[in-house]
Amino acid sequence: MAINRALLFLFCFLAIANTEATFKKYPPLGRSSFPKDFVFGAGSAAYQYEGGAFIDGKADSIWDTFTHQHPEGKVSGGVNALGVKYYNNLINEILAKGMIPYVTIFHWDLPQALEDEYEGFRNKKIVDDFLDYAEFLFKTFGDRVKHWFTLNEPYTYSYYGYGTGTMPPGRCSNYIGTCAAGDSSTEPYIVTHHLILAHGATPYQRGQIGVALVTAWIVPSTLTSKSERAAQRALDFMVGWFLHPMTYGDYPMTVQALAGKRVPKFTAEETVMLQKSYDFLGVNYYTAFFASNVLFYNNVNISVTTDNHANLTSVKDNGVAIGQATALNWLYVYPKGIEDLMLYLKDNYGNPPIYITENGIAEANNDKLPVQEALKDNDRIEYLYSHLFYLSKAIKAGVNVKGYFVWSFMDDFEWDAGFTIRFGMYYIDYKNGLKRYPKYSAYWYKKFLQT
Ligand SMILES: *[C@@H]1O[C@H](CO)[C@@H](O)[C@H](O)[C@H]1NC(C)=O
Ligand SMILES: *[C@@H]1O[C@H](CO)[C@@H](O)[C@H](O)[C@H]1NC(C)=O
Repeated sequence: MAINRALLFLFCFLAIANTEATFKKYPPLGRSSFPKDFVFGAGSAAYQYEGGAFIDGKADSIWDTFTHQHPEGKVSGGVNALGVKYYNNLINEILAKGMIPYVTIFHWDLPQALEDEYEGFRNKKIVDDFLDYAEFLFKTFGDRVKHWFTLNEPYTYSYYGYGTGTMPPGRCSNYIGTCAAGDSSTEPYIVTHHLILAHGATPYQRGQIGVALVTAWIVPSTLTSKSERAAQRALDFMVGWFLHPMTYGDYPMTVQALAGKRVPKFTAEETVMLQKSYDFLGVNYYTAFFASNVLFYNNVNISVTTDNHANLTSVKDNGVAIGQATALNWLYVYPKGIEDLMLYLKDNYGNPPIYITENGIAEANNDKLPVQEALKDNDRIEYLYSHLFYLSKAIKAGVNVKGYFVWSFMDDFEWDAGFTIRFGMYYIDYKNGLKRYPKYSAYWYKKFLQT
């Protein structure tokens, strides 16, 4: 299916005409509505983009194992020269094109070898191997990469890898899911502890270091103190679980009180090491949930999934939804949440420099749709525009937001959703040699950045 450039430009005009309604809903907005040094970009991730799982000597990660259901995974076991070459080429090309690379050290694809050798992040040994790896990256790429994130969405890694068991390494209690083994009441807390220590122990070197955390915004389902407290607990268990230790050196009181002895303790030295252990904070924001208090909490099947004693839903009992539904059952559109979340982080965590490291919306993959039709992603333009509007409000209110990255640069492998959904501003034709086409949003974003 060939599409020529002229046609694509025509689409571009159509796209902008179709989204005029969106632009009218919000005040005019463009690059110039943001501070001069504000950074705009788009995100991608190694396992979701690269392919080549079995070429050039790359060994399995836990995602390879999980998705196919079945060398060494550390620097001391030797470094893959072809891997280094690949990233050198990528970084050099990004710089040559006048862009700035923001690099994440660990985005979930733990080497399977470390899972096999000592149970990966369940073992504190991971902290030393993480350090070796980070130091190797700084040494090898630090002359050109000045912005690093230690971890991406450690919450997702702990909660879904060890709580629900729906992501690798797929561990959970038998009363939570059908996992071969695991303990949803303890392992997520242990894994989180080691993720936080790995982050905190990573040295500052030749540049700045941050961490990218995911969180929804949480809205109390009713105007009652019970709902409000449930909302606070939900935030503490999602973002505070990581950000509180990384800022203040220990877990939120709610987490300590509700999960009790299951939460590992930091030593005095670790607490000091963790305080203010980031130069900037990455935030992945997609959606919001209503929170209500859970009245009857059973103490039998204990799990990280219920420890917050909060019930999170997109739709209330009375049928009111928090926003427009999308192709993903958890992603309802709630743009104001990005403003509320920014203000919350400013007020509770000392107004750190923040990058929105992910924000975006998916469409369901429809193989029957002609490519020209699939490029019409006006919902994505509206989503991005409205979120940028509320983000600009947060900046005017004094939140120290430094940048914004759309998720995602192009369609990719979306983890447990596989290739069933499309998050990209570029369309990938999976059936025809991975040909790539800009969607309407790609044109829109380009124009936005010139306005
Ligand atoms: C605990 O989980 C088991 C297995 O799913 C279930 O049969 C049982 O009813 C649960 N107990 C409580 C108190 O919820
Ligand atoms: C959570 O809320 C939903 C919708 O209001 C309700 O259907 C469900 O029963 C609630 N679950 C618990 C555990 O309270």
